[in-house]
Amino acid sequence: MQKEFFIVGNWKMHKTISESQDFVHHLSLHLQGYPLKIGLAIPFTSLSSVKMQVKEKKIPIMLGAQNMHEKLQGAFTGEISALMLKDAGASFVLLGHSERRHIFHESDEVINEKIHRALQEKLKVIFCIGEQLKEKEEGKTQEVLQRQIEKGLQGIKSLDDVMIAYEPVWAIGTGKVAHSEDAQSIHAYCRKEIAKKFGQEEANKLFILYGGSVQPDNASSLAKMPDINGLLVGGASLKIESFFQILERVN
Ligand code: PGA
Repeated sequence: MQKEFFIVGNWKMHKTISESQDFVHHLSLHLQGYPLKIGLAIPFTSLSSVKMQVKEKKIPIMLGAQNMHEKLQGAFTGEISALMLKDAGASFVLLGHSERRHIFHESDEVINEKIHRALQEKLKVIFCIGEQLKEKEEGKTQEVLQRQIEKGLQGIKSLDDVMIAYEPVWAIGTGKVAHSEDAQSIHAYCRKEIAKKFGQEEANKLFILYGGSVQPDNASSLAKMPDINGLLVGGASLKIESFFQILERVN
């Protein structure tokens, strides 16, 4: 495979500190000479210890978080800031994940504030977008994505530290992966929207990841698509065997 490719595991609310370290240790045994860029979005509690582990053992993976608050500090019981994430070892953060949008009711506006804050604090952002099943069935996929891109990236000047993850909500955790050609055409649409807003050059170099039921058996056909620059892997990133099989198939 010629193009640069980024594979990110999203562990969601899984793994204790020792389980996280154990996974990263086993992953590191397989990683020698791997050209792929690999990231793991892990629980807040595991960040600092895994950061120490990857630093000490020189393991070539990026560590990130799965969410953060839009304010830098203050009376926000139970929340976590960009500063704290960086301090704990995160270099990127997932923002706008559909579980945050739909279970925790995060609006496009709040997601936009979070993106601004993360970039100000020099955290890279994986900005997640995607339509729900009903919206897809009503033929509103493009409209939804256009709105999420427009509102989510409002006021953002540069995409140097931003990636987009297209994750159709109906494909997340359901085993129903988007057909690679369909995913390709939606990625191409998103790139076109980005080009309108930021110019063709920015759009061409933007990484657009696909997520939603990525598994070893569908990873390589998705990865072959010209506008798919990476994969955001949930369930299959929890087991070293399936995660590593995805790395192998895509490599
Ligand atoms: P999944 O999750 O791979 O389990 O569908 C993807 C995600 O939510 O990022």
